[in-house]
Amino acid sequence: MKKEIYLLHDISEMAKRLAEDFKTALEDKAASGETLTVALSGGHTPKAFFQVLAEPPYRDGLPWDKAIVFWGDERCVPPDDDQSNFKMTNDALLSHINIPEANIHRVLGENPPGEEVTRYEEEIKRNIPAAGNGFPRFDWIFLGMGEDGHTASLFPGAPTLKERDRICVVATHPETGQKRISITLPVIDNAERVSFLVSGAAKVPVLKEIMEKGSEPLPYPSSMVHPVDGILEWYVDKAAAPWMP
Ligand code: 6PG
Repeated sequence: MKKEIYLLHDISEMAKRLAEDFKTALEDKAASGETLTVALSGGHTPKAFFQVLAEPPYRDGLPWDKAIVFWGDERCVPPDDDQSNFKMTNDALLSHINIPEANIHRVLGENPPGEEVTRYEEEIKRNIPAAGNGFPRFDWIFLGMGEDGHTASLFPGAPTLKERDRICVVATHPETGQKRISITLPVIDNAERVSFLVSGAAKVPVLKEIMEKGSEPLPYPSSMVHPVDGILEWYVDKAAAPWMP
């Protein structure tokens, strides 16, 4: 596993760097006649990144027909709910770019979670090629990190962290009880490229512990991500990593 840490001045610079890196990845795939399969993160941090992509030169200059978009997790709410990761992404990016509807694979948050988890698994299987281990291998999975170290909707101490067979699970937010659909650690670890986007002072304690003790077993799901045949990247800003030079 290759690991890279990119220290950005602030979330705005992180968004610009991510947009440039996304442009490179999408254009490289398009140049070889392939698609770029991505699983996007929810939460607030990626929104600035999406908003940069929704502006020139990215909005009209990228081969969006070669982007295949999934979500790493979704809240079990309707797509027009302010809690919806799809809504955030659609408002910030998808509604501004010329991406084919068929390339957008949202979790149907309005469905019963027990049914949707299976339907979404099948949708991933149909569209994302599997690696030798049988799990789907996304080209690029974007992740956020909660203050408690959760990622996607995999929360500390949750039984879903032990799931080694399924592609998706039904998760429950530990504080709100909100049901979520999340991809599992085996899927995340199977990706070609996994990028954490971490911004803000609230993330300092857990991020510092992960960065400084990463090789030790920690209770944080974000520390359990190891894309063995891929690259693990941390895009962090100064507010989240003030100790970094
Ligand atoms: C979600 C996300 C979640 C998020 C982290 C960080 O659905 O909320 O997938 O894992 O990435 O909670 O969220 P912020 O970027 O808002 O800090």
